[in-house]
Amino acid sequence: MNNPFSIAQILGSHGPTLEGAMRAGSSWLATHSEAQLLNLVGRIVEEVPPFQAIDKSSLPDSFGGGQTSPPDDLLVGRGLFYLAEQRRLFLDCTSGHYQMLWGYNHPALDAAVAAATQLGVVWDNHSNIPQAPVKYLAHRLVSLANPAGQKDPLNTVLLGVCTGSVACGAALKIMLKVYQARRHESGVPVILTLDGNYHGTDMVPQFLRGMWPHLVSDLEVVKLEPNHPEALASAFQKYGTRIAGFWAEPVMMNREAIAVEADYLRLARQWCDEVGALLCIDEIQTGFWQSRVFAFRELDLHPDLVVVGKGMTAGFHPLSGVIFKERLDVLEQYDAISTNGSAALPSYVALCSLQMIESMSGQISQIGQKIMDGFCALVSEFPEHLQAAHGRGYLAGLKFKRVEVAQNFQRDLLKAGLWTRVHAYHEGHRTLLTKLGLLSSPAVVDFMLGQFRMLLQAIR
Ligand SMILES: Cc1ncc(COP(=O)(O)O)c(C=O)c1O
Repeated sequence: MNNPFSIAQILGSHGPTLEGAMRAGSSWLATHSEAQLLNLVGRIVEEVPPFQAIDKSSLPDSFGGGQTSPPDDLLVGRGLFYLAEQRRLFLDCTSGHYQMLWGYNHPALDAAVAAATQLGVVWDNHSNIPQAPVKYLAHRLVSLANPAGQKDPLNTVLLGVCTGSVACGAALKIMLKVYQARRHESGVPVILTLDGNYHGTDMVPQFLRGMWPHLVSDLEVVKLEPNHPEALASAFQKYGTRIAGFWAEPVMMNREAIAVEADYLRLARQWCDEVGALLCIDEIQTGFWQSRVFAFRELDLHPDLVVVGKGMTAGFHPLSGVIFKERLDVLEQYDAISTNGSAALPSYVALCSLQMIESMSGQISQIGQKIMDGFCALVSEFPEHLQAAHGRGYLAGLKFKRVEVAQNFQRDLLKAGLWTRVHAYHEGHRTLLTKLGLLSSPAVVDFMLGQFRMLLQAIR
């Protein structure tokens, strides 16, 4: 069918020039090799016609609504690169909002979407009649979550939720419902979490990180410093059977990319078994970013609940989930559901993306190691500015000694065309974060590290 819509009309009065800029930008990105693009990062692309960027006044201030300077938001993206509205070329070192597993609009996934739609795979439908890709994805996640012969396997998947926040809320509800059913006589339930956790934007998960201090009652939250086994043991000894569960992210991307150690998490597993608590691993950041797909598999851990989202659908229509043991199947459908969960086409994209992870697993492991080695080398080279390399594989952080140096460094990178983020909004936080897409070649990593080195040398 011919396209009945006029882009110029749909995108309003800015249409003709915006459309022209988008077309020119997309074709410019598509016709340049990775090496050519790396050479041009940070430059204005004159081949793209200038246009008047659309102001953001209808957006809330927290999303840039109050911005007075000319906006420089994303114009078009392809793979690891994007052109901003001022026509500057950027290398995206954070995979969008940490979800674009293969960068922007990977052509293979775009083609997969087109072919699947033509076949009759639907974008979305009622969750009571899940289309084949949803069921295939559930089976595939189960097989990836369990080593052969796993006792008490993770064999059930809630895929009815759209965002990670709803998935985290669902895992917490499972934990509390199991506690209420079996151990309410122990007293008010306790949830153990790591200080600096982020388990989404639902109110009770926000309570886990210290928000809404007086609004939630009959639930006690104990925050632990990650990687401190003595404090972990003391908390389990102190609260015992009142502990409903322990939550952790394998790499705390919301707290300076701190990697939580395998031994620490295995100790939490042992203690959970000792007191009858559930172990929940939030893999929303880590999941799909390593060759064995889940970080908990790499860490040789056997959780009770695993939360997934973000990278699962590679930045296409979102879909999240909770993978858990069948005996924890205690929620009713409307206890945890999103209208846009159980979505077929995103599930299909997730299956294609998993196939790409499998076929590139060697490169994925090598690049992950190269990033970490590179960050460690920078720390040894610039001890006057850098305190430590954080993270694991693609989820990497550079902790600076001084917060203002970290912030200026991130601004300098932006001027040079490298999109990174910096954690500096909490006391003591001063870490630059990157999460390159899985498409990154050795040349991309070398380029990023080279730019870091050059700008670190320039700091006075
Ligand atoms: C570790 C972790 N958990 C949960 C969430 C919430 O996911 P969503 O933003 O899809 O609701 C995020 C999002 O950044 C996250 O990083």
